[in-house]
Amino acid sequence: MAPSAPGKRAQVLDGKALAARLETGLKAEVADLKRRFGKAPGLTVILVGDDPASAVYVKRKVEACGRVGIVSREVRLPATVSEDELVGLVEGLNRDADVNGILVQVPLPPHIHKARVLHAVQPYKDVDAFHPESVGHALIGDETMAPCTPQGVLLLLDAAGVQLAGAEVVVINHSNLIGKPLAALLINRDATVTVCHKQTKDLKAHTRRADVVVTATGVPGLLTGDHLRDGAVVVDVGITRGADGKLHGDCDDSVWSKASWVTPVPGGVGPMTIAVLLQNTVRSFKRKMGILPAPL
Ligand code: GUN
Repeated sequence: MAPSAPGKRAQVLDGKALAARLETGLKAEVADLKRRFGKAPGLTVILVGDDPASAVYVKRKVEACGRVGIVSREVRLPATVSEDELVGLVEGLNRDADVNGILVQVPLPPHIHKARVLHAVQPYKDVDAFHPESVGHALIGDETMAPCTPQGVLLLLDAAGVQLAGAEVVVINHSNLIGKPLAALLINRDATVTVCHKQTKDLKAHTRRADVVVTATGVPGLLTGDHLRDGAVVVDVGITRGADGKLHGDCDDSVWSKASWVTPVPGGVGPMTIAVLLQNTVRSFKRKMGILPAPL
């Protein structure tokens, strides 16, 4: 792990470095799979519209595939694409034997019913783990295809040496993408989990008791040192581009003088989300080849 920033007490929980280590392992694994089966895992990423942030995320995912040897394809569709066309594309990819993972980048344009599209992805190829069947598997403890950002958070906590069994963990987010699946993974590790959100009456009353705080509000500076007990571990999933053009997390600077470990933004959770996506694509391939068990 990288040393603490000067003048700060917390150590940097370095997602960029951890993701690079995971990629090294995945690269060797992909090379071995290619030798054994004559082909590499394949991921197709669908990007609808021209949201600049989504375009950057998709570019990073495709580049990461290239680094580890996963065969990636990016399908770009105009924002005017119909829901039926998009679902038809996903169904075609479900049938394509060379595609092990399908990822539909969200957000989607407002005229498209997001759930219909995400639920069209065959659970075996659901490398985002957004399908209700994938969510259900994670909930009951089968984490072979774990949701990317929540699993990335857990890998970061492991790297910081956090003992989750019995730990008080506060998650500030209750979305289907982050808060709910993360709570499930934490419960699977016997953490005591509190999920907070916009309607939570007294956020500090919860966060001040926490050993670990995971924040994903998208409100820069929302979490301050005053929210924390001394030595808490903070994982910042928030990512907002400020008027200064820079990326900001949810943490105020004061967090760094109270916590023991903090993830930076950028360079914390973001690279880990991508590393888990690669891992899921490899796992999907291994399931298809019969060298990883099918879902329970
Ligand atoms: N948009 C922001 N994060 C994600 C993600 O992890 N997966 C998909 N599909 N879209 C996203």
